[in-house]
Amino acid sequence: MNDQKENITLIINGIAKEISVSKHESLMDVLRRNAYWSVKSGCDTGDCGVCNVLLDGKLVRSCKVLASNTKSRRITTVEGITQDGKLHPIQTAFIETGAIQCGYCTPALVLAAKALLDSNPEPSDTEVRDALSTVLCRCTGYVRIIEAVQRAAAVLRGEKVSPIEVPEQILQDNNILPQSYYRHSSDAHPLPPLVLTPPQMEATQVIGKPVIKVDAEKLVRGCPVFTDDFRKEGMLYGALLTSPHAHALIKSIDTREAIALPGVHAVLTHEDIARIKHASGGQSYPQPLPYDQVCLDNKVRHVGDRVAIAAAETLEIAEQALKLIKIQYELLPVVLDPQDAMRGGAPVIHDEPDTDGIFDPNHNIVYHIEEQVGDLEKAFHQADYVFEGEYRTPKQQHVHMEPHVCITYWDEDNRLVIRTSTQVPFHIRRMVAPLIGIPLKRIRVIKPRIGGGFGNKQEMILEDLCAHLTKKTGRPVRMEYTRTQEFTSSRSRHPNIIRYKVGVRGDKISAADLYLIGDTGAYGCHGLTVQMVGGFKGLTLYNAPNSRFVCDVVYTNKPPSGAFRGYGAMQCQFGMEVLMGEIAEKMNIDVVDFKRSNWIKVGEPMYLSRALGEGREGFDQSLDTSGLSQCVDIGLQAMDYYAKRLENRVQSGRVRKGIGMAVVMHGSGIAGLDMACATLKMNDDGSFNMLIGATDLGTGSDTILAQIAAEVLSIPVDDLIVYSSDTDFTPFDKGAYASSTTYISGGAVQKAADKVRRQICEHAAGMLGVDDPTSLILRDCKVFAPDGRSLTLAEVALNSLHQKNQRQIIASASHMSYKSPPPTAAQFAELSLDIKTGQINVERLLMVVDCGRVINPLTAAGQVEGGMAQALGFTLTEDMIFDQEGNITNASLDKYHIFKSNELPKMDVIFVQTDEPSGPFGAKSVSEISIDGVAPAVVSAVHDAAGVWLRELPLYPDRVRQALANRKI
Ligand code: FES
Repeated sequence: MNDQKENITLIINGIAKEISVSKHESLMDVLRRNAYWSVKSGCDTGDCGVCNVLLDGKLVRSCKVLASNTKSRRITTVEGITQDGKLHPIQTAFIETGAIQCGYCTPALVLAAKALLDSNPEPSDTEVRDALSTVLCRCTGYVRIIEAVQRAAAVLRGEKVSPIEVPEQILQDNNILPQSYYRHSSDAHPLPPLVLTPPQMEATQVIGKPVIKVDAEKLVRGCPVFTDDFRKEGMLYGALLTSPHAHALIKSIDTREAIALPGVHAVLTHEDIARIKHASGGQSYPQPLPYDQVCLDNKVRHVGDRVAIAAAETLEIAEQALKLIKIQYELLPVVLDPQDAMRGGAPVIHDEPDTDGIFDPNHNIVYHIEEQVGDLEKAFHQADYVFEGEYRTPKQQHVHMEPHVCITYWDEDNRLVIRTSTQVPFHIRRMVAPLIGIPLKRIRVIKPRIGGGFGNKQEMILEDLCAHLTKKTGRPVRMEYTRTQEFTSSRSRHPNIIRYKVGVRGDKISAADLYLIGDTGAYGCHGLTVQMVGGFKGLTLYNAPNSRFVCDVVYTNKPPSGAFRGYGAMQCQFGMEVLMGEIAEKMNIDVVDFKRSNWIKVGEPMYLSRALGEGREGFDQSLDTSGLSQCVDIGLQAMDYYAKRLENRVQSGRVRKGIGMAVVMHGSGIAGLDMACATLKMNDDGSFNMLIGATDLGTGSDTILAQIAAEVLSIPVDDLIVYSSDTDFTPFDKGAYASSTTYISGGAVQKAADKVRRQICEHAAGMLGVDDPTSLILRDCKVFAPDGRSLTLAEVALNSLHQKNQRQIIASASHMSYKSPPPTAAQFAELSLDIKTGQINVERLLMVVDCGRVINPLTAAGQVEGGMAQALGFTLTEDMIFDQEGNITNASLDKYHIFKSNELPKMDVIFVQTDEPSGPFGAKSVSEISIDGVAPAVVSAVHDAAGVWLRELPLYPDRVRQALANRKI
């Protein structure tokens, strides 16, 4: 591109700067090039808003503004609203309210709030929602963000605001909801998350408190903490050429012109890279077969599949080089429907001879799973009734705001550094090493802050390619996906066809048979494990003693499916929950009573836990804790469920009201497989470094793990310096997936902190002349002897490091578990339905969650709100749409509809604590269960409104209207 440069003056944050810009350069690129790292890149099409800045006080998308058009205009970024190191009240409010999760969207939201409050100091909630709707946030559900803006508005008006508190109340024996919690129709805000605690639960000091996230300040300041906020001298830009065809052989590929282009340093195709078979899913060793991928192949299997890579002085040159590659494709027939793909004569997607472990390549069946307990045939024969239903779920995309991005370089010891936005740094190191032919010990993976992942970064997406380019050129290389590539070339949720057959005897489910077709797309990735989790959770919630799970995981010519929050469980529980509603209606019994008499109870074995491990045989497990019954009772009261159901029976008119509920369960890590380690090291001043391999992808795990250590050591979280995760400096952790971080990594932190506590007591006992170190206790940053004498932790640290019996007080501990205790929850939805158009307007979502002990009610509530928002997209709007050739027709953020701040309903969260004996301080998990229940609760509410059962998601208005027409209400 012929793009002349000119020197212009930009006034950035009040300072005039002479900057050289190209004629076509966007303001976003210029600002980032000049280290205004708070300005983020999320889509380049002006749809996501994370690049927002203020231009003369007005909010603009900097990716859509030419820098050359901003001469002498006032540009404000978040770096400019922090004055003399002091945070702006909006930034402070974001921190205090828990409005920040991954923080990738935060600077843009802060500026959106500033633009609003500068012109409207007393906005209504609706005005706040509208103002924030210019920025997409995929993590939060916007609940705490709206609260932050209203809090900041109050502060800026000179009003006094109270400290943020999360009400905690004792759970009464009869599960009565505190009167103060009832929502009134005039309530605009979500009610604060409420924590209900059984009376016998032990009190804690740090755990259970709404501690501010340890990374909140740097995120709200827009500090350079993400992968791409980093530049290396001599860095090249990598780019990926993807397939325009859904199924084709590459007959020839000619890169000569591309390589000859000035500024190009490398162009690589399948002819240049060793053919090493592997699987890209980031899972523990050994990853399940088949290894059906190579870095670059001579066959493409979906639109967006990898074809070639280039590295050049600029991204534009790299992209230009890719266009100069001449490729001759031989087009092959395409199959997009998994049922068609299984039929004889269908195109064979994996016909290569060097992939082992595909169950039936000729029918594109990558895995066939068949597991059973009990005597199914007999149970169906003896059942009073047998019910069947088929349910379908969509191919949802993760849409994390930070795209996949990776920077690779050689360090001074000639070791390869991979700086990458990943959920699984240790798996990435292990997986990349053989592909690029470098021993694992010569690779270091650094995980900076992550701008959301939701499972899509539990996958090797760019790391191997970027490493190949660095290996070839010897230079640092940066690669980043475009937003289009996120749709075409990353991963998405498995679309499933779910067939249940359920036998009922009396009011008990005596037999359950689940047949599942999982569409894994072009590669196996997480195909096996997602479906095994789906089968296990989908059959264990009601835990029929006679159960069977049969599943075909099928290749199609669509982008690969992968890990996505909910991981198969949400799809199968959607089917089961809707069928439970259908059965209750047919049997004319109350659906809540029917579910209550059937859901798994404490003490029961989980019949399929051994047969359906995750990718391998599991372990016998039983349910040790469950607050499900309490969750349901509380939720029924909070929603006024039965009264509304009665009212809804007699309604007429075009817009009908409906209320629905669902119950769900999830897991906490993978039993017998997940392992994490943590290290704690004491410093001279009594503070501690906490080194963890656990990967905080915005969930707040660094904070809650610090709270666990702080609780054991009786110190404030401020006295812990948390560092995660770097394969050179932090101990191993399997990574952030499977709802394992609180439970597994938290267990490691608790053990390591306890070892450190004992070392402190041993050393302090010597200092105090106490014979029995176990008689010492830690309290408020001090060690106390039984006679009341005390030492500060700083005194112990200084003595141990410098004065007597010198030693470093330090400990590491590993943790794993043969259990995966399920969190449980009741999900409620209230909506109105236009029976003429089929338009659903969800008005309120409430989730009442038992996640064991709540470590941090603010971050936990944020997880639940964000999960419900994502689940609402899955339910109503989100699906990747394909034409007949396999092109995605909605691969952009203007066509693929995720909800904005002004489109989401009121969302409330209540926690009912239980004390899980195997969890750290009684904790289970919270992040994934939050996504499991919205879809069946909404379907149940639609049935309440209009009497139809909808079995296919998303509930597009056309689909609903058609169902209503068939029903003729
Ligand atoms: Fe908004 Fe992650 S916190 S995108």
